Amino acid sequence: VVDISKLYAQTGMFTYDPGFTSTASCESEITYIDGDEGVLLYRGYPIEQLAEQGDFLETCYLLLYGELPTPIQRRDFNYRITRHTMVHEQMARFFQGFRRDAHPMAVMVASVGALSAFYHDSTDISDQRQRMVASMRLIAKIPTLAAMAYKYSIGQPFVYPKNELDYTSNFLRMCYAVPCEEYKINPIFARALDRIFILHADHEQNASTSTVRLAGSSGANPFACIAAGVACLWGPAHGGANEAALKMLTEIGTVENIPKYVARAKDKNDPFRLMGFGHRVYKNYDPRAKIMQQTCHEVLNELGMKDDPLLQVAIELERIALSDEYFIEKKLYPNIDFYSGITLKAMGFPISMFTVLFAVARTSGWIAQWKEMIEDPGQKIGRPRQLYIGAARRDYVPLDKR
Ligand code: ACO
Repeated sequence: VVDISKLYAQTGMFTYDPGFTSTASCESEITYIDGDEGVLLYRGYPIEQLAEQGDFLETCYLLLYGELPTPIQRRDFNYRITRHTMVHEQMARFFQGFRRDAHPMAVMVASVGALSAFYHDSTDISDQRQRMVASMRLIAKIPTLAAMAYKYSIGQPFVYPKNELDYTSNFLRMCYAVPCEEYKINPIFARALDRIFILHADHEQNASTSTVRLAGSSGANPFACIAAGVACLWGPAHGGANEAALKMLTEIGTVENIPKYVARAKDKNDPFRLMGFGHRVYKNYDPRAKIMQQTCHEVLNELGMKDDPLLQVAIELERIALSDEYFIEKKLYPNIDFYSGITLKAMGFPISMFTVLFAVARTSGWIAQWKEMIEDPGQKIGRPRQLYIGAARRDYVPLDKR
């Protein structure tokens, strides 16, 4: 029943590309990836330099506006973000409707979407000022919502933002402070988390970013679009991979068990894969993985956990895999998720929060991509076609004749 010639005649061209492995959905000036060389650039700047010398808010500015901020622009941007960190008090009551054991990502999907029910004055996307305010609100409020989702899940009171702190320290405090004790921010943790946010900020047209663009192409408001991105990110094949990597390292348990798991990963008849290895685009070392590995060492050193068994297993697994013909031939290197789970766990985050942290960071990239699309005069609603493979035309059969 598929009549390709008809589709071809309608459009001049018709391609069938499941998973969009070879179809560009847009032009973009934001992020560049060279998977063969292991290169990742935000607006032309190498990820290594941004992670080493920059900070997350500066990276947000860069993604949004295309240039690193001057000192005045930076101060102004920080001020605008910190002015918006509070969420409406009714949002706190909204949280009370969730079950205590709700997954924090379920709470995030709902609460980010609910922002459009609270902030009507920034949902008109034809108004440049409203678009800007919505962008600031999203970057500012997403850590507050994420910390609230965490606090709610462990039955502790919400901690209000403290705006003299930097973005990441503020977030750590909202997650870990309790009313009865003074909370001291560990600068090594704050720096490590800031770097993790930079590494996750954007990654061109991945599934969740494409979701945000597709939702936004219909003219949906930015809160709704980012909620769609959060929902997509929740999937285990996307934001959930570091959780899977951590579970695998825990299951391997000791260095002696590694060869058994490596052999399983190479066995064609065994569906097991080494989680945290391989990437659709990077066929060389994922540049984010190198920085992540260094960050992991810094956090574990700070905690006196240099001999942590999970870290030992990770290091040895990486060593064995990188010298194994199978992994060399298939260009399977550790990806960003390999070391991020160990790091976040060491910093005290439960596994259920890993994808939430990813969402906090990726919000900056989602907004930059959404903004780029909305401001493109040639922008069209995203409307993929399909190859219909169902029944040919047939006549309705009355109920008593079926
Ligand atoms: N362990 C063992 N073998 C692997 C692995 C792995 N982790 N990854 C790929 N392979 C093998 C496949 O079995 C396949 O072998 P074959 O050619 O003999 O059939 C070959 O390498 C190619 O694999 P594909 O799945 O076709 O490669 P693709 O580029 O589509 O997949 C993916 C990339 C999904 C990331 C894959 O490497 C994988 O499943 N990795 C483990 C999960 C993971 O770490 N995901 C996180 C990705 S990073 C992120 O999302 C932020």
